[in-house]
Amino acid sequence: MILTGGGREIAPANGKLGVLLVGLGAVSTTFIAGVENVRRGRALPIGSLSQMATIRLGKRTEKRAPKIKDFVPLADLPDLVFAAWDPIPDDAYTAAVKAGVLDRHEHLEPIKAFLQGIKPMPAVFDQYYVKRLHGTNVKRGKNKRDLAEQLREDMRNFKKSAGLDRIVIVWCASTEVFLTAGPAHQSVDAFEKAMEQNDQSIAPSMLYAYAALMENVPFANGAPNLTVDIPAMVQMAEERRVPIGGKDFKTGQTMMKSVLAPAFKARMLGLSGWYSTNILGNRDGEVLDDPESFKTKEESKLGLLEHILQPDLYPELYGKVYHKVRINYYPPRGDNKEGWDNIDIFGWLGYPMQIKVDFLCRDSILAAPIVLDLALFFDLAGRAGLAGIQEWLSFYFKSPQTAPGLYPEHDLFIQQTKLKNTLRWLMGEEQITHLGIEYYEYADR
Ligand SMILES: NC(=O)c1ccc[n+]([C@@H]2O[C@H](COP(=O)([O-])OP(=O)(O)OC[C@H]3O[C@@H](n4cnc5c(N)ncnc54)[C@H](O)[C@@H]3O)[C@@H](O)[C@H]2O)c1
Repeated sequence: MILTGGGREIAPANGKLGVLLVGLGAVSTTFIAGVENVRRGRALPIGSLSQMATIRLGKRTEKRAPKIKDFVPLADLPDLVFAAWDPIPDDAYTAAVKAGVLDRHEHLEPIKAFLQGIKPMPAVFDQYYVKRLHGTNVKRGKNKRDLAEQLREDMRNFKKSAGLDRIVIVWCASTEVFLTAGPAHQSVDAFEKAMEQNDQSIAPSMLYAYAALMENVPFANGAPNLTVDIPAMVQMAEERRVPIGGKDFKTGQTMMKSVLAPAFKARMLGLSGWYSTNILGNRDGEVLDDPESFKTKEESKLGLLEHILQPDLYPELYGKVYHKVRINYYPPRGDNKEGWDNIDIFGWLGYPMQIKVDFLCRDSILAAPIVLDLALFFDLAGRAGLAGIQEWLSFYFKSPQTAPGLYPEHDLFIQQTKLKNTLRWLMGEEQITHLGIEYYEYADR
């Protein structure tokens, strides 16, 4: 059956969906093991909007609120098949035990054989881009273009051997060193030439993205790397009608920031400073201990306050904000991050006040449901013919990719409204504006 919506047709979610992950570390294994536990009825997919949330349709009086997964044609969890690339050869069981996120007896041992069956394919990896890692499970090739071709072959083999209908890729690999868009990124031609010349501005993540686009596979970027946020990739995604998006999963501290900052602005409370610091001891923390990888993460974490608070419109309130973000590698904590925020705000007549947030979170527990939702929604986007940047999924990203010249929406609830309205639009349902005047002015009395 073909469903129509917003003038589009949505191909049905028939057959199996391959979820191909770049990186098989803490986030990926927590996601895979989580889905398998849910499939076996051993746990709930808490934190996943696609699985748990409802969507209101029509007027409040109609009382229509189906679950999102019953409203839009998403792939079902039993139809997901997983594979990954990683320069570290550990299978998903070993990697999950090493990551130490999930309870071994409760959530890993019962699915040990399943996890051991997921062995990472050799990665395209170069230590220049992730200084703190040493990879042995790595592809060799005559140049970067050749490596991208090998990744394409991996995708085709995975599709064939697992009997898949479609594939989607989510980047869950390490944060690469800071790069800015340069001449090699401006067009597909320039990019292809640069791959052949082993240009240093072409990072491994870009080779995965290029290979995905060449295979018409949607690509979501969970790290702050540039990856698909360059003109060449946007051009390719539009021409080949493939969805892309990023950057950087919005999980702990930044998620809280994107809730609190809009609240201050909504009440016209001023902000003089926001100091954020983190301790974490997982491999991600170790990678981010390298100043060049940290710079990529820092840029991603800093951008949102400026966009939310609009100091150009409100110079008296937000013209002089001191914003600092720190990440400290502290091994004893493992994946259990602690994020502190000290927020200096001011109110009526300029009187100062302070807010302290101490979020004892679990990084991968927050990220895993985001990986699931992104895989399912990017697959939906592909079947609905939505090509290029998927801004409607900015809900999931710290540093959302947008059309050139457009500032990103960072407010979590604007992002949620955008996401839900896009789903309504896709399915030909009315947009919800929250005007509500019809309940009063035009109501039958
Ligand atoms: N957990 C969160 O809350 C969160 C939030 C936002 C972003 N992220 C990002 O998600 C990513 C994964 O986080 P994690 O905690 O799982 O880290 P991790 O270190 O446990 O796993 C990353 C894996 O990627 C692999 N890798 C590195 N380069 C690769 C390459 N070129 N190809 C294939 N694999 C490669 C590493 O070997 C490692 O196993 C990081 O970039 C992190 O910054 C995580």
